[in-house]
Amino acid sequence: MSTPVLARAPSNIAIVKYMGKVPGAQNLPENPSVSLTLDQLCSYVEIAPLDGPEDRFENQAPPSLELMAPELSPAGAAKFLGHVARFRAESRTLSGRSGVAFRSVGGSVSIRSANTFPHSAGIASSASSFAALSLALFAFFAEDRSEFARRWEEDESLREAVAEFSRTGSGSSCRSLMGPWVSWEGSQARRLHCKLPRLVDLVLIAGTEPKAVGSSEAHSRVKTSPHWQGRVERATRRHGRAIQAIEEGDLDSLAQVAFADFRDMHDLFHTSEPPFTYWNDQTKLLREFFDRAGPGRYLLTMDAGPNLHLIVPDTDADRWIARLEGEFRGLRILQDGQGKGAELLRGVDEV
Ligand code: PMV
Repeated sequence: MSTPVLARAPSNIAIVKYMGKVPGAQNLPENPSVSLTLDQLCSYVEIAPLDGPEDRFENQAPPSLELMAPELSPAGAAKFLGHVARFRAESRTLSGRSGVAFRSVGGSVSIRSANTFPHSAGIASSASSFAALSLALFAFFAEDRSEFARRWEEDESLREAVAEFSRTGSGSSCRSLMGPWVSWEGSQARRLHCKLPRLVDLVLIAGTEPKAVGSSEAHSRVKTSPHWQGRVERATRRHGRAIQAIEEGDLDSLAQVAFADFRDMHDLFHTSEPPFTYWNDQTKLLREFFDRAGPGRYLLTMDAGPNLHLIVPDTDADRWIARLEGEFRGLRILQDGQGKGAELLRGVDEV
């Protein structure tokens, strides 16, 4: 029997948003997106051999990690196990595409996972957890794990192949395999060259209540908005501008793109049929603060949730935190840096 594999993958925050799926396809996006890969806000996934008739998702953190396992719903656990089943069913194609030879993909496995961020932080864990699961699956079933681990560090095409598979489980997870800046277009996620300074993401927590509308529902409901017309063209234009700004180190242009695109996405939510919103009173107060602050050396964005992401050069982070804490008593701020994407932590020395 082979030994367990432990992988880790960070969350990512989009600057040009993925919103709207191509009908029928496996999480293919209507428009291209661009994101920043984070570092310590991440998920761990362990895959271990299991003596039993079928795969099992354990509601426990991987051993030796001082973390709490997330409370996954039966539907969430089934989605995870479905990804394992898909890996098995597609292993020949995946092997051909990635150049990784797999040993037999039969035999049951157990899966454990944990996140470094509390569920209540309002950070979506599907991107990080599916990225970690996808990497763990490739490594676990690789015939030569040492060779796989070596290629993982050196070969961007391998990361792209694992990202392509990861997307079929959770769309935005394909941007968490590499970093720090990633473009995702069609079926391909790729790392961008970057001349920007090192950035940090300050997550300003405005609410921790469960989302009224999940992201799958949001992806389909936005198409009922009158503003869906032209959305793909708008996002595609911003995608091009964002890549240029990242490659040229132009933080000001990127800030304009970020602001326009998150407004555009939330405007789709607000004008869908029926409309919905993730904004609460605290979101609005924080938004007003930035309206007063005006443009500057910062990127502001929001995901499908009430929190704001303030992305600033790492040299400015302390100043921003002091300013925000002065303005908003008791504001919870999570801080994370930029990262290089998913990594293997255990179980890869075995040949
Ligand atoms: O990967 P999903 O289906 O959870 O979609 C996430 C979409 C947003 O987070 C709202 C935007 C993005 O590009 O990450």
